[in-house]
Parts: sequence; structure tokens; C-alpha cells
Amino acid sequence: MIVAEHVSKHFKRHRREPGLRGSLRTMFSSQYDLVRAVDDVSFEVPAGVKIAYIGANGAGKSTTIKLLTGIMRPTTGQVRVDGLDPHRRRVEVAHRIGVVFGQRSQLWWDLPVLDSFRVLRHIYEVPRAVYDRNMRLFRDRLDLGALGNTPVRQLSLGQRMRAEIAASLLHDPAVLFLDEPTIGLDLVLKQAVRDLINHVNAELGTTVMLTSHDIGDITGICDQALVVDRGAIVHQGTMRELLRSVDTRAVTFEYAAGSVTEAEALQIIAAELPDVRAIPAESGRIRVEYPVERWSARQVIAVLLNRFDLTDVLVPDADLETLLRRIYAGSPAEPVSVGDGA
Ligand SMILES: Nc1ncnc2c1ncn2[C@@H]1O[C@H](COP(=O)(O)OP(=O)(O)O)[C@@H](O)[C@H]1O
Ligand SMILES: [Mg+2]
Repeated sequence: MIVAEHVSKHFKRHRREPGLRGSLRTMFSSQYDLVRAVDDVSFEVPAGVKIAYIGANGAGKSTTIKLLTGIMRPTTGQVRVDGLDPHRRRVEVAHRIGVVFGQRSQLWWDLPVLDSFRVLRHIYEVPRAVYDRNMRLFRDRLDLGALGNTPVRQLSLGQRMRAEIAASLLHDPAVLFLDEPTIGLDLVLKQAVRDLINHVNAELGTTVMLTSHDIGDITGICDQALVVDRGAIVHQGTMRELLRSVDTRAVTFEYAAGSVTEAEALQIIAAELPDVRAIPAESGRIRVEYPVERWSARQVIAVLLNRFDLTDVLVPDADLETLLRRIYAGSPAEPVSVGDGA
């Protein structure tokens, strides 16, 4: 349903020099850096799959989604959505896709929410029955009815995101692109959005491509994952395979108040469990991350039982959090100097 073949997107960026004189020089300079936002990326997403697009800040996720939705054209390579070139066949593709960018609005700023939906209904030629069914769905699941007469500009971020998500689904798109869709939502609404997306996928077979910094969005929605690093794909597979590739696991424990200080606890761990990372967490907990080639969960827990007055131990299944933290801490696309020497 979604195909990318050797896709690259390069941006030219004027090389910045510090200070006022630098700024002036920058304005008139023909020196620039080339940012390889997307670098020879190929992947295929079959219809009906919900895939997470995971990568550090600046890894090229939003750019990829702009290429796939026709907002930008690739520098080289090609993309197809439902067999169509999204840039050249923008209107046809728009009828088949829904898009949510958490960072910017697709709605009309001055129109009341409900009027925006009426306009969208005409643009997308949504049949009455589909429109009514979906508006009912949004009212039930996103409490959209409450927002009906408010102009978009007066909505809070959380309210606007609900309206954006509903708008993206109004015309029963075959493919849904979500770029940080739960920004600004509280826990209850995040869950409502995840449930709605899963519901639509189950009912209509909607293909979903999601980027999010929220682990709950990724595990709560997606069954596959694409991991992108510095513009290139480094992993594609099921969520389960991604988790199996994690070489760090974690145990979180809590010790009886007053039995040791945090500093002492960290010292004990450093002494007894070399190569382990101990991270103080909220409410007197400590998260212990250990490399699986060196330690087993059993050994780590044995040390904890031996040395601490434990009040709680938490052993997560597999540690997506560690993996994502490491991916998101990774380095963004590094500019390559290509000044023309002028
Ligand atoms: N319009 C643009 N002009 C110049 N550079 C851009 C533009 N859009 C994105 N970039 C750069 O491309 C890289 C990838 O950006 P982006 O796709 O937004 O990453 P992500 O969504 O993964 O955080 C970054 O280094 C970013 O600064
Ligand atoms: Mg982004």
C-alpha cells in the first residue's frame, strides 16, 4: 500500500556564521550545507498494517511523511501510495489518505469545528451515510460534539488534536499518516485516540503509519516497526522482532524508606553489578539497566534481594523503553559541507 524505493530528500541550508557580521556574510554567501534528511530509503508497507516509524529527532521521519503525502517531492527515488505518485496525483491521493501533523493544523483557523467538517465532507465527496456514521463515531469516542461551534483558533492543543484526528478519518481513508498525533493529549484521550485508530483499522482495514515519541502509542497501536537512523532504515520487522533485538533489559526496584540513601544504593549497585546502569526514578525507585550478554534477570534480582530491603520489584517483559530512549538519543542527520567555493 505504501512503497518507497531508494528515496532521498536533501535540503540545502545556508551555512551560518556567528554574530551580526556572520549573519550578513551568511545572507550573501553561496556556501551551504547539504542535509540528507532522507537517504536512500526503501520499504514497503502492506495494506492493513499498522507500522511505527521510529527514529531520533531529526532522523527524517516528518520529511518522509511529507514525501508520502505529496507535500514534498523526493530529490531522487520514488514513492507510491495505493499505486499512485502522491505529488503528481495529489488530488486523487488526498481522497485515499488521512494525515495528522501534531505540529501544524490542517483545519481552517477561523471556522467552527463543525463547519470545517462540512467543508471537508464536500471536498472529499463523503457520502451522507459515511459522514453520519463517522461523526457519530467521533462524538462517542473523541467527545467531538462538545467542540462543534468553537472556532478552531480557540481550541486548546488537546481539543485541536481531537478535531485533527477526526478530520483525517472523515472520508474513510485507505491510509492514515500520523505524525506525533497525541501531542498535548491527557492519558484518557491518548487511550481514546489509540482505541479509535485500532477500531478503524479493524473495521475498514486502514493502513496506518505512525511516528510518536510516546511508547504507549507505539505499543498500543502498531504491529510493525521501521527504525530510521540518520536518514536510513536500520530495522524493519514486527514489533516482536524489534523487542527481541534489544540487548539491554531493565529491572526497577524500590527499597524500604530509610534503609539506605539513594547515593548508597547507587554505590552498592556499581560495586556489585559492573556494566550495569542505575537510574534513579520517581518516588525512591531505581531503574537498573543491564546488558543481556553479561547479566541475567535472575542474577540481577539475586543481588538486589541480597543487598536491599526491597519493597517492590518490577520486571518488564522486554524493554522497549530502553531501546527507544537509545534511538531517540541518537544523533540527527549530520550536514555535509558542499559549498561551491565562492
Ligand atoms: N524544509 C527544510 N529545510 C531544510 N532542512 C530541513 C527541512 N525540513 C527538515 N530539515 C532537516 O532535515 C532533517 C530531518 O528533519 P525531520 O524530517 O523533521 O526529522 P524528524 O521528523 O525525524 O525529527 C533535520 O536535520 C531537519 O533540520
Ligand atoms: Mg518530526
